[in-house]
Amino acid sequence: MILVTGMAGYIGSHTAVALLEDGRQIVGMDNFYNSSPSALDAVKKITGKDFAFYNADLRDKEGMRRIFEENSIDAVIHFAGLKAVGESVEKPLLYYENNISGTVNLLELMQEYGVKRFVFSSSATVYGEPDHVPIEEDAPNSATNPYGRTKLYIEGILKDMCVADKKFSVALLRYFNPIGAHESGLIGENPNGIPNNLMPRICQAAKGIMPFLTVYGDDYPTKDGTGVRDYIHVCDLAEGHLAALKKLEKSTGALIYNLGTGIGYSVYEMIHTFMKVNSVNVPYKVCPRRAGDVPTVYANPDKALNELGWRAERTLEDMCKSSWEFVKNK
Ligand code: NAD
Ligand code: UD1
Repeated sequence: MILVTGMAGYIGSHTAVALLEDGRQIVGMDNFYNSSPSALDAVKKITGKDFAFYNADLRDKEGMRRIFEENSIDAVIHFAGLKAVGESVEKPLLYYENNISGTVNLLELMQEYGVKRFVFSSSATVYGEPDHVPIEEDAPNSATNPYGRTKLYIEGILKDMCVADKKFSVALLRYFNPIGAHESGLIGENPNGIPNNLMPRICQAAKGIMPFLTVYGDDYPTKDGTGVRDYIHVCDLAEGHLAALKKLEKSTGALIYNLGTGIGYSVYEMIHTFMKVNSVNVPYKVCPRRAGDVPTVYANPDKALNELGWRAERTLEDMCKSSWEFVKNK
């Protein structure tokens, strides 16, 4: 039985589908801080399968204990966490308590119940301002905000766990920029509040919820002056978790993998592809750079291919189409 924390969220719900379609038994938990129970119904509808689910908070250790007590868990995939960079700057303690203390609670329960496998949602944010691209897993790490620091600290805690317990196995999955949605149109990125990331904001501008998209700078040293990122389809990302889990079943220690495509697209390329494949207009205005942004970030994804046999397969067109398919009728 696999415990999926944050299962009602964007990446958690897509990974739940991939796990159920692979025939895995799962149990989910979430406190719906940034999601809603409707995602769980959608997962059931897509897969035709049922699963146990707990409305629980990582910070409530006794509430979490029930999940371990009532289920025979042998691995944890840990998505639950807060992820808004700006909010983390304003409320650092909220981020440290939720993300770090919450994860420590989870790890203590795993230790108590003898659970040895852990897949962690890390982020390319741990590479800070990379001095070269594509980025390999052994590139230097740094954090420029509390959110990024929670990822770095948790990676460190998990490495320490592997030193202390030789039977413990961990996959630190460093996601690049997940976008897109399941082909059913039933699950996708549906954040509570105002989104920060590019694709949800493109969708809002296309829908008229925002009058225009703000392009954060067109004077970067990139192909067209706008920021370049490695966008990965969330369904490819979900399959990466399955590949990591299979790897952990026959290894110990901490393994680190970039989950990206290895291709960088600019903000302008994103806007134009989105408009073309969806036949909609995305009004935009060029604005000053966003503080903390770097010009270009993309992965070297070779390690995941060589060691996990996984690589991203879906195209930018698929990502733009499925994002819009999910959002347009909401
Ligand atoms: P999401 O907000 O959609 O999902 C996270 C889920 O965790 C939400 O459903 C939320 O309600 C839940 N949650 C938060 N705190 C909780 C707590 N204390 N107890 C129980 N549930 C809690 O985010 P996502 O995009 O699916 O991201 C999943 C993970 O991947 C996060 O850890 C995030 O930091 C990481 N990540 C995301 C991205 C991205 O761009 N989406 C990139 C890199 C890493
Ligand atoms: C952001 C976070 C990063 C986090 C990642 C995934 C910051 C500084 N960084 O990274 O920590 O891991 O999301 O959640 O917030 N853009 C626009 N207009 C917009 C929004 C974005 O032009 O309205 C541009 C950005 O300048 C960037 C690109 O689009 O060049 C992608 O932005 P975004 O989706 O926010 O991702 P990251 O900047 O990679």
